[in-house]
Amino acid sequence: MGFKYKAIFVDLDGTLLNSKKIISQRNLKCLNEFSENGIHVVIATGRTLKSVKKVTEGLKINSPIITLNGNDIRNSMDGYSMMLSYIDNSLKKTIFSMCKNILNGNSDYSIENILFDTSNGFYCLNPKLLNTNEFSSHYDSNIKELDLDNPPKESVVSFLFLLTPDSNRNNFLMEQTKIFEPHGAKFCTFNGWPWIELGSPKVNKGTAMQYVCDYLGIQIKDVIAFGDGENDVEMLAEAGLGVAMANADTHALKIAKAKALSNDEDGVSVFLEHLKQAGNIQ
Ligand code: G3H
Ligand code: MG
Repeated sequence: MGFKYKAIFVDLDGTLLNSKKIISQRNLKCLNEFSENGIHVVIATGRTLKSVKKVTEGLKINSPIITLNGNDIRNSMDGYSMMLSYIDNSLKKTIFSMCKNILNGNSDYSIENILFDTSNGFYCLNPKLLNTNEFSSHYDSNIKELDLDNPPKESVVSFLFLLTPDSNRNNFLMEQTKIFEPHGAKFCTFNGWPWIELGSPKVNKGTAMQYVCDYLGIQIKDVIAFGDGENDVEMLAEAGLGVAMANADTHALKIAKAKALSNDEDGVSVFLEHLKQAGNIQ
């Protein structure tokens, strides 16, 4: 094909998926053509593999998949974890202590539910309160009850929790961020998704992109990456060309070197087609 880049790293929500959570025919056709022509198409998302599969039907790619914001890198759509990152014990203790503090009523906030995604399935504080329809599309059903007095010994991949509707989420994020800063950890939130997430501070989509590039034997300068959110910032900053969608948040727009049309205007394929037409070939 002679395309300038050797790999296309693409975020899902807000980027490749439109607002209806669908990959348009134009985006599908474009990425399938690149893939058929030997350009690696790598999905990089905060989603689990299960929920990636639900929205990527028709995408014919055979490259690794970055899931859980880089915490779990799969070798392919049906494949095994090539790289699984865990929250270290000191951060784990801080998380348990924050949860216990809030549950004991020692703060202005209330927790409705907590989920730990561990090396041995999920632990949930209030399994009965889980919206099972919502979760079944994202997570596997192996859920055990979480007892914070006897916290799980297993390694934790990511930690999710949900405040009650009367808790001020923004205040909580501002206040609690200070507690986690010494660990280098920060909360991850997404539009339309009420859960607050925390993974290993050592990984993000940027570190995962480097891992996948090493695995594929290509250099990061040969990557074009597309994203729309704060969880894309490292990937957009480090890629050869980081492209933010027109609908991206301020973090992504600030760091990206280029801007594409919005996810509802097929921004990814329009940008890539334009690059090809503009002679961005080797
Ligand atoms: O839970 C995942 C969020 O929807 C973010 O996904 O990284 O594909 O934008 P994304
Ligand atoms: Mg996104």
